[in-house]
Amino acid sequence: MAKLTYYGHACFLVESDGTAILIDPFLEGNPLASIGPGEVRADFIIVTHGHGDHLGDAIPIAKRTGATVISNFEIASYCGKQGAKIHAMHIGGSAAFPFGRAKLTQALHGSSFPDGSYAGNPAGVILWMGGRVLYHAGDTGLFMDMQLIGEAGLDVAILPIGDNFTMGIEDAVRATRFLKPKTVVPMHYNTFGIIGADPGAFRESVEREKLASVVVLEPGKSWEF
Ligand code: NI
Ligand code: MN
Repeated sequence: MAKLTYYGHACFLVESDGTAILIDPFLEGNPLASIGPGEVRADFIIVTHGHGDHLGDAIPIAKRTGATVISNFEIASYCGKQGAKIHAMHIGGSAAFPFGRAKLTQALHGSSFPDGSYAGNPAGVILWMGGRVLYHAGDTGLFMDMQLIGEAGLDVAILPIGDNFTMGIEDAVRATRFLKPKTVVPMHYNTFGIIGADPGAFRESVEREKLASVVVLEPGKSWEF
C-alpha cells in the first residue's frame, strides 16, 4: 500500500510504511500549492530537473526536515553545497533506499538552475515502495522508450498534460498506451494560463480506449493505491 498526495503542479508526496517521499517541491510561489514549505513532510526529496517549478523549495525543506535530496549528480551537488543531505544518481541508474528503490529515467526536456547555469539532464523517476511501482515522468515530451519504462509493471504513472513545455493531452494518452499503467494521474496543468488543460478531457480519452483508470487529484487531496 502507498498513499499519494498532490500539492499542485508536479509536486506529490508518496507515503508508505511511515516514510515520506516528496517529489518536485515547488510550493512557494505555486498558486495551486495546498501546503507551504514550512509544513510539508519529507524523509526524501526527489528533484527531476533544475527548473524553478521543480527544484522549488527542495533546499529549505531538506534543511528543515533533514530529508535526503535524490537527484542527478549536478542538482544533488548543488543542493549539497547549500547544506542538504544528498544522494546523487543519474539516468538509467537505480539505488536501494530504506523505502525500497528509485531509478532515474530519461525525460525529453531542459534542465538549468533558476540562474541559468547547467543542471545536468532532466529525468523522470520510477519508485518501488510498499509493494507498489510508481513512475513520475517529470517534465517531458512523448518518447517511445516509455514502452521500456512500462516493463517495470507500473501501478501508477504520473504524466504532464499541460502542453507547451511538456506533453499535452493527446501525447499523454499515447504515453499511457506505451506505459500500460494500472492508473494514470495527470499533473503539470492549470498552474499558469499557458499550461491550461482539462483533466476531464484526458480522463475521457484514456477511459474510452480502456487504457488505464484515471485519478484526477485536486491539490491537497490524497489517494491510496
Ligand atoms: Ni521544466
Ligand atoms: Mn515544469
